[in-house]
Parts: sequence; structure tokens; C-alpha cells
Amino acid sequence: MNILVIGSGGREHALCWKLAQSPKVSKIFCAPGNAGTSQVAENVDIKAEDLPHLLKFAKEKSIDLTVVGPEVPLVLGIVDLFESQGLKIFGPSQAAAQIEGSKIFAKELMKKYKIPTAAFASFTDPSDAKKFAKKLGAPVVIKADGLAAGKGVIIAETLSAAEQAIDSMKDFGEAGKKIVVEEYLEGEEASILCFTDGKTIIPMASAQDHKRVNDNDEGPNTGGMGAYSPAPIVTPELLEKVQHEILVPTIKGMESEGMPYKGVLYVGIMVTKNGPKVLEYNARFGDPETQCILPRLKTDLVDILRSTIDVRLSTISIEWDPRPAVCVVLASGGYPGAYTKGIKIKGLNDARQLDDVIIFHAGTAEKEGQIVTAGGRVLGVVGLGETIRHAIDRSYMAVKMIDFEGMHYRTDIGRKALKR
Ligand code: AMP
Ligand code: GLY
Repeated sequence: MNILVIGSGGREHALCWKLAQSPKVSKIFCAPGNAGTSQVAENVDIKAEDLPHLLKFAKEKSIDLTVVGPEVPLVLGIVDLFESQGLKIFGPSQAAAQIEGSKIFAKELMKKYKIPTAAFASFTDPSDAKKFAKKLGAPVVIKADGLAAGKGVIIAETLSAAEQAIDSMKDFGEAGKKIVVEEYLEGEEASILCFTDGKTIIPMASAQDHKRVNDNDEGPNTGGMGAYSPAPIVTPELLEKVQHEILVPTIKGMESEGMPYKGVLYVGIMVTKNGPKVLEYNARFGDPETQCILPRLKTDLVDILRSTIDVRLSTISIEWDPRPAVCVVLASGGYPGAYTKGIKIKGLNDARQLDDVIIFHAGTAEKEGQIVTAGGRVLGVVGLGETIRHAIDRSYMAVKMIDFEGMHYRTDIGRKALKR
């Protein structure tokens, strides 16, 4: 089979790496990819948002299966486009991807199908939004309706911060024209990703992301500074509750709305004292969760993706490696703010020789035969171990062998899991 993976981050390197293990796969292309994907796939210089060229390429190369990493092409309708031309592609339709593309769509869906989530209201007029924020009281959460590359959510600790946040929504352009104001939820977060063909739902191994840039969850939000799997907070009892109260009604709700959901559904939950509540939905694999989930997947990913597309996921059983995995993200100096690119990365070859260590590239590129930085999140260093402690040690052992100017990372990835 010829496979096309769309995207250029750590998640896409992990997808290419896992797909390359399938005996059914003869060739993988990654558009546009990074210096890591080029080790297992052929990079193609087409941007993830350039739907017409992606389609042309898929036809020319007789691609048998396309796997979409990021949300933007999904929200732009890549699945509908490819399917209309008879091409097999993994991911939700444009209508179904609204679950991530519009926070208001997601909140209204949850309200209609009684899926637990924070109390909210949506607004187009900033002064109405401010009145509602005042009614809810601080802390309060302000969200841009549309896609904002993970930056559209502001937790306002005070009412004046909330007012500022509401005013700042216009900086997101079209995405910030509508605003959600919602209740602040307290608890511990977890990510539940599942494969679903619209009928059957199979949760993946659980994971937990680390969104803040600094240790102890301090500093601004990022795209994710690390993750671990499994997340001990997701006990079998909690997962059962999430299935029953969240996953099943979401998938049934989408079907009732005439938008059957196929692909990966990612549910970000807050485990509150009143049970799990939905923070957000994503219409795709999480990044960096995927980097520690896929190394634990024993089943052939091609079989899972094909049976999802063909609506026969009920025939598949998925096996997991019981060993925990930890992914530490190495970021560019200044990230999540401005940073410099093109800095030489040292120590990669030695670090990748370590047993039970996998290094996924994110913002990297090849320049004159050397691997250099090309983004904010540069590498995801994954360690596997018999216990979470061992996985943490493995991962940081590899981290210490790698260096580039300005490199920074959190030193506490996975620590929360040790407390349980
Ligand atoms: P989202 O993109 O909606 O997941 O929001 C990004 C992050 O903001 C989440 O991972 C949470 O840490 C936080 N967040 C979002 N909504 C809430 C809420 N209602 N209460 C508390 N924290 C929230
Ligand atoms: N890890 C958060 C995300 O993928 O959106």
C-alpha cells in the first residue's frame, strides 16, 4: 500500500513511524513532513492546507490511504474532497470536524445531548459577553469560537482580565468574532482519544498532556510540553463513566445531527469532584499524546484505520503494550513566544541508540546534511519502561544527551503519575 500522511509535527513523525512497521505498507509519503519523517517516509513539499495539490499528488501516486494529522485540512473539508474522488482517507468529514472547528458548535451539541461540560453562553457582542462573565464571576474562561492554533483559550483570574480577554478576541480575526464565556472547572485534566467509525468506539490508551511551558504547570500555555501514557487518573471506573456519559452520547448525537463521525475523536476532560466534564473536542490525534500512545500500540495501525473508514471497527481488537511511555518535548529558546530557527541540534545520533528510547522530530529540518531547528517544539523524546518511573528516567537520560542553543524543556513530565 502507498500511504500519505499529512502534517509536519511530532504527531506525524509518530504516525509515519508506526505505519512503517506494517507489513502491508510499501511506501509512505509525508506532506510536508520534517527531518524525522524523512527517515521513514519520503517528504513531499506540499503544505497541509493546500488541498488541491494534495489531491493531485494522491491521485498521481495512487495513494491507497491518506492519514490527516492536523485539524486545519479536516475543517477545510479534505475528507469530503478525497472521498468524492474515490480516495480512502482517515478522518471526519468537514461537517463532523466542526466539533473542533467551532467551540459554539461543540458546546451546543453537549447541551442538546446532555454531555457534561462547563456552564457557558456564546456571544457576538463583547459587552454582552462581559456582562455574562461578571455574572459567572472570576476565575472565568474566555474562548474564541474558531481555530486559533491552540491560543484561543484564556483563563481569566479576575474580571478585569476577563474583560481584556474578551476585547482581545478580535485579534483572532474571523475565529474570534464569536466568543464563548464559560465556567472555570477545577480538577485534573486527561486526554481520552478513541477510534470510531460512527458505530463502534474503541478508546486508546489514556494519556495526559502538559500544556504550560514551565514545571509545576506554571507559565503560559503551549502546544504541549510533554505527555505520558497511561494516565493513572483514568481508572477503569472513570473510563466507563466517560464512555457512557461522554463518548457514546457524542457519537450518537453526531449521527442524529446528520454528521456521522469517523476517525479519531479526542476528548479533553477535566476530572472534577462532580465527575468528568468535557473541556474540548479535537477531531484528530493529539500532539504530543500520540507520541507516547503509538509506541504502546501493538496492533497494526493500518488495520485499525482501514476498518474505521470501512465501518467495520467492531471486527478489530486492539492490543497495548502494558509498559508506560513518557514524551518530553524539547523546545526552542523563547517558545511559546518568538524564537530563532536554523540552530544545529547535537547529540541526536547517540541518544537514539539508547534502548527503549524513540526520538520523534517536530520542528526540525535538514540543512547541508545537518539537522537544525525549524519550529517552536523541536523534538519529542520518548522513553518506555516497566514502570512510569523507569519511563521517565529513560526519557530524561536521552534528553541529557541532546543539546541545541536555547533549548528548554520541563523537568517534571510524568511526575503527577508518580503521586498516584
Ligand atoms: P481547550 O483548547 O478548550 O482545551 O483549552 C485549553 C486549556 O485551557 C485546557 O487544556 C485547560 O487547561 C484550560 N481550560 C479550558 N476550558 C477550561 C475550563 N472551563 N475550566 C478550566 N480550565 C479550562
Ligand atoms: N495535546 C493537545 C492537542 O493536541 O490539541
